[in-house]
Amino acid sequence: TRPVTLSKLQKMKQEQEKFTCLTSYDATFTGTMNAANIETILIGDSLGMVVQGQDSTLPVSIEDMCYHIAAVKRGNDNAFLLADMPFMSYSKPEQALDNAAKLMQAGAHMVKLEGGSWLKDTVSLLTERGIPVCAHLGLTPQAVHKLGGYKVQGKDEETAALLLKESLELEAAGADILLYECIPTELGKTLTQAVAIPTIGIGAGPHTDGQVLVMHDMLGVTQGRKPRFVKNFLTDGRSIQEAFEAYSNEVKSGTFPAPEHGF
Ligand code: KIV
Ligand code: NA
Repeated sequence: TRPVTLSKLQKMKQEQEKFTCLTSYDATFTGTMNAANIETILIGDSLGMVVQGQDSTLPVSIEDMCYHIAAVKRGNDNAFLLADMPFMSYSKPEQALDNAAKLMQAGAHMVKLEGGSWLKDTVSLLTERGIPVCAHLGLTPQAVHKLGGYKVQGKDEETAALLLKESLELEAAGADILLYECIPTELGKTLTQAVAIPTIGIGAGPHTDGQVLVMHDMLGVTQGRKPRFVKNFLTDGRSIQEAFEAYSNEVKSGTFPAPEHGF
């Protein structure tokens, strides 16, 4: 099957066709996601939590990311692969370029960085050098200790306006995708309509162009308290592939996320 590319995702946005994203960290689940036609796969630094058992994403290194990107790449047929730049691996533009190059050489098709306006120069530098960038805004888990927990962002007018301003600045700097985590549903809609590039949401309502979930969460194997935006798709006697397919069907038909998954 034809590889999913950025142009395909842009076309899907224009045609108002939703696309799916799931996290994967190894070859086997990646192959199962391919079989379920999941368009994009995120090698997320959430691997620190769901694979390594850390209590945040902060301990994840570039080497950890490259190991998992390489495994996903070997198992991947046609999905578009996004990979997270880990904590403090992009605090300066030149450093970001060197580290992004490592992720791209390991097999990523795009790198994802958490942050707003301060990322502008980094986004332009990577873009100039031919590295596609996804900017992650809203709840940025690498800043959890500064944010004071995993909290919904952009709830008041002022922070919502700031998110809009930062989104437009990052788009102008060359970002190709914007990812929003834990923002009000209405804001997810406003931001998605404000930019020409595709948006992906997690806890951002049904109006973003794409949806993402951590695989372990949507298979219901994550222990402990679950965030409101999580839904277990491994129900009704489904196989794992069927759970991925159910997720895809619900995203494409607009049934997931439902109002109860949003803010
Ligand atoms: O690391 C990750 O899995 C992520 C998603 C939750 C968006 O960044
Ligand atoms: Na992440």
